[in-house]
Amino acid sequence: MKKILKWTGIVLGALLLLITGTAFYLRSSAQNRLEKKYQIQPKYITVPSDSTAIAAGKKWVSSLCINCHGENLAGTEFFHTPDLGSIPAPNLTPAGACKEYTDLDWDRAIRHGVSKAGLPLLIMPAKDFQYLSDEHIAQIIAYLKTLPPVDKSWPRPSTTFLCDVLFQLGAFGDALNAETIDHQKPSHYAPERGVTAEYGQYVVKVFGCKTCHGENLNGGKDPNPEAPMGPNLTPGGNLVSWGDTAFIAAMRTGITPMGKELNSKFMPWKEIGNFEDDQLKAIYTFLMAQPNLPTADLKK
Ligand code: HEC
Ligand code: HEC
Repeated sequence: MKKILKWTGIVLGALLLLITGTAFYLRSSAQNRLEKKYQIQPKYITVPSDSTAIAAGKKWVSSLCINCHGENLAGTEFFHTPDLGSIPAPNLTPAGACKEYTDLDWDRAIRHGVSKAGLPLLIMPAKDFQYLSDEHIAQIIAYLKTLPPVDKSWPRPSTTFLCDVLFQLGAFGDALNAETIDHQKPSHYAPERGVTAEYGQYVVKVFGCKTCHGENLNGGKDPNPEAPMGPNLTPGGNLVSWGDTAFIAAMRTGITPMGKELNSKFMPWKEIGNFEDDQLKAIYTFLMAQPNLPTADLKK
């Protein structure tokens, strides 16, 4: 009897050691990824300072950035839970995190997901912004440089042991975009603006609709575990019966023609609604030009 107890103790002890060892190993691998230095030299771009370019930049920012960095771009708490840690989206005004940023530093952060210090940015969706054309990124930078300074500072991201382990196990999807972007790729071209599927595809790409609506846009899931499924946006889904006028209305009011209220916590309709009518029509044209796909079965 004593012998059995002794052996059970040894086996349990060994298991515990193995689990703890694995957790520490996962955590230190996560930290290596978070602290890895990237040497990225973006291609030189010319940032304009005329009012037309600045106004165009403001439009892009009101659709692409305010959801996380806040209406006045002075930053938000973005992600904060006691169990996992906090990842603020920093202050982008001239009094904030980027006050020392050159034009190339802005480009490195936005299209490559790497900070001035060479560290990979968490959550910041550079995997989508990498598709911004030179002209559009330059307009965005031009506008950011004219923001009125707001004196607000945020701590650096801090993640708990548990968060690092879960991150290393892939629970948060592609949280460090710098790891998957092809940094050598030449900068991207934007098709001419117009109500065309081609221009709509560009807007869908830079906004990152696929992050939540799936690779083929026929349904997907945001990495946020609380989020509902992103519905099928191809002609296999509801949108086919809407028409572009009702689609625009849904993105401006958050209510679909079927009377469904879209939850702005999970579906950023307000920011999408900040696109202009022709851009929203182009998005709709692109979506309706997709193959008629049945809704993805995510449980598979
Ligand atoms: C989904 C949320 C999200 C969106 C949308 C987003 N950001 Fe961010 N951004 C973040 C987070 C979170 C960080 C902090 C990452 C870190 O410190 O590791 C960040 C960091 C940055 C930084 C680096 C600041 C520093 O500390 O060096 C810049 C610059 C930036 N964002 C610009 C933008 C711009 C411009 C847009 C729109 C084109 C944008 N972001 C859209 C979440 C977002
Ligand atoms: C952060 C995740 C996320 C992103 C990014 C996103 N969506 Fe959504 N979308 C959702 C979710 C979740 C829903 C379902 C909302 C609900 O049930 O309240 C939704 C619902 C919709 C609906 C309503 C569909 C229906 O059948 O009722 C449309 C239309 C839509 N999204 C279009 C878009 C477009 C176009 C883009 C890109 C420009 C986009 N979404 C980007 C998460 C997202």
